[in-house]
Amino acid sequence: MNATQRFRIAAIPADGVGREVVAAGRAVLDVIEASSGGTIALHWQEFPWGSDYYAEHGAMMPENGLDTLRDFDAIYFGAVGWPTVPDHVSLWGLRLRICQNFDQWANVRPVTFLPGITSPLRKADDTDLDWVVVRENSEGEYAGLGGRNLSARGAGGEVAVQSALFTEVGCERIIRFAFDLARTRAHKKLSSVTKSNAQQYGMVLWDDTFRRVAADYPDVETESVLVDAMAAKFVLRPEDLSVVVASNLNADILSDLGSALAGSLGLAASANLNPERRYPSMFEPVHGSAPDIAGKGVCNPIGAIGSAAMMLDHLSLHDQAKRIHTAIETTTAHGIRTRDVGGTADTDTVTQTIIDNL
Ligand code: NAI
Ligand code: MG
Repeated sequence: MNATQRFRIAAIPADGVGREVVAAGRAVLDVIEASSGGTIALHWQEFPWGSDYYAEHGAMMPENGLDTLRDFDAIYFGAVGWPTVPDHVSLWGLRLRICQNFDQWANVRPVTFLPGITSPLRKADDTDLDWVVVRENSEGEYAGLGGRNLSARGAGGEVAVQSALFTEVGCERIIRFAFDLARTRAHKKLSSVTKSNAQQYGMVLWDDTFRRVAADYPDVETESVLVDAMAAKFVLRPEDLSVVVASNLNADILSDLGSALAGSLGLAASANLNPERRYPSMFEPVHGSAPDIAGKGVCNPIGAIGSAAMMLDHLSLHDQAKRIHTAIETTTAHGIRTRDVGGTADTDTVTQTIIDNL
C-alpha cells in the first residue's frame, strides 16, 4: 500500500449558508478520504469564528487566530457576514484579515457551465463555454488605505478618502500567474482588464506591466479590455474568453457576473492562493452568507464542493479533484438541482447525489 499522505485542514464555516455549504463540502471530502484505501488522511479542525463569535467576544476571530491557522495545509472557508455586524467589520475582521496576512495574492475563480443547468446566456446551449477569472487579491481597490476625517465640521460635513494601491511587484506577480495559467489551457489566451482611460495612474501601471510581461509569453494570445467593455463581452462574446486577469474590485464584480451567467452565484468556486506556499491558501465559494435563505437547507452546495475540489488540486490530489468535478457534472446532468438553478432538491439531496456519483 502507498504511504498515507496527511493534510491538516482548518474549517471556518462562519455565517449563514457558509455553515451549510462547508458541511456539504466536508461530507464529500470524507468520502474521498474513506475511498482512498488509506492513502489520504484529512485532519480537520473547525473554528467557530464569525458574527456569533463577534457577539460574544467583540472580535471576529481571536487575537492569535492567524498564528493558529499558520501551520495548516489549507483553509476551507464558508462565508462571512450577518445583519448583526456591519459588513465592513465582519469582512475585514475575518476573511480579508486572513487573505491579507497570509499574502493570498491570487484569487482564482473558474466560470463553469454545468450540464442540465439553464444559463440565462442563450449561447451556452450551443457553445462550449468555460473561463477563469484571476483576481489580484492583495492590493488595488481593497488595499484598505484611506481614512475619514472632518466630522468636527458637524453633521453632513465629514469626508472620506479611499485610495487604490497598485505596485509594479503586485501587478507583475498576478499577471505572470495568469499567463502561466493561460499556458495550461486549450485556448492559450489572456485578457487583461483595467479602466486605464479614467484611472490614469494605477491602471496605466498595470497596462504597462502587462505589455512588458507579455513579451515573455509569445505563445499566449493577449488582449487589453476596459472593464465596462469586458462586462458586455462576458454576455455577448464569452466564447472569446479563456483567462481574464483584473484588479481586486473589477475581478470581484466580473466573477459574480460570470457565475450568474453560468446559472447562479451558488455554483461558483474559488481559491485564494499564496502561490509561494509560505502560508496556507484558502478555498471558499464565491457567494456570501445569503441571509435570505440561510438555515432553510435549500442553498446550493456546488460552489463550496467545487472549492473543495480546488483545494485537493492545490494539495496535488488531482485524480480526486477530477472525481469531484465529474460527480458534480453527473448530478446536474441528471436534473438534481437546488431551486436557485431551477430545481426542487434541497442541499442534502444534491450533496448526497454528488457523493453517490463519486
Ligand atoms: P450573497 O452572495 O450572500 O447573496 C446574493 C444572492 O445570491 C442572494 O439572493 C442569495 O440567496 C443567493 N445565493 C448566495 N449563495 C447561494 C447559494 N449557495 N445557493 C443559492 N443561492 C445563493 O451576497 P449578499 O446578499 O450581497 O451578502 C450577504 C452577506 O454575505 C453580507 O454580509 C456580505 O458582506 C457577505 N459576503 C461575504 C462574502 C464572503 O465571505 N466571501 C462574499 C460576499 C458577500
Ligand atoms: Mg464578491
